[in-house]
Amino acid sequence: MRIDIITCLPQLLDSFFAASILKRAQDKGIVTVQTHDLRDYTPHKHRQVDDYQFGGGAGMVLMIEPIANCIHALQKERTYDEIIYVTPDGERFSQKTANRLSLQQNLIILCGHYKGVDERVREHFITKEISIGDYVLSGGELAASVISDAVIRLIPGVLSDETSALTDSFQDDMLAPPVYTRPADYEGWKVPDILLSGHEAKINDWRMDQALERTRQRRPDLL
Ligand code: 6GU
Repeated sequence: MRIDIITCLPQLLDSFFAASILKRAQDKGIVTVQTHDLRDYTPHKHRQVDDYQFGGGAGMVLMIEPIANCIHALQKERTYDEIIYVTPDGERFSQKTANRLSLQQNLIILCGHYKGVDERVREHFITKEISIGDYVLSGGELAASVISDAVIRLIPGVLSDETSALTDSFQDDMLAPPVYTRPADYEGWKVPDILLSGHEAKINDWRMDQALERTRQRRPDLL
């Protein structure tokens, strides 16, 4: 998979993708994440990428030319399955969307800033608009990072234990059960006996019960 991220703040994203699982996935050649500085594509003086909105009003708007130039340059190299714009008024991001996107080959993610982007960008280039929740961030960079992380970890070979993405919270519309590790007794706080029993079928039943109970208590809307 390849993810191209268009942004005014590439430094913000580069540090995120240079660490941890995302770094390993790139080193293994499973995914390529490339950031693109919008300022490198503007035809305007002083590397300007935004301007006042027509009709008046507070807030700067990202101009269409730098975005169009960048997208066109990328499209010359390959075909994209989705051109995603991250925005608070997009479709709410979920595990289902992450699963779908993880099956794609080439994605562009456009990060908005300031007041947003010229509407013509959304009309003519964008194929999918995603929000990561009902709150407002200063820019789309964190949202692009969240989406990329959720998608990349689902690609086969990225996680060392192939099954672990399948047992995540939300993967079956259920929260994950509690987990424990050594010591089995910490100052009298004990791990449930069943997990030490070695009885695999009973352990699986217990985990299913716990997952159900936790979902019922914390997220009944999922059931
Ligand atoms: Cl995708 N962008 C911004 N700026 N704020 C958000 C968001 C996206 N999703 C939730 N809040």
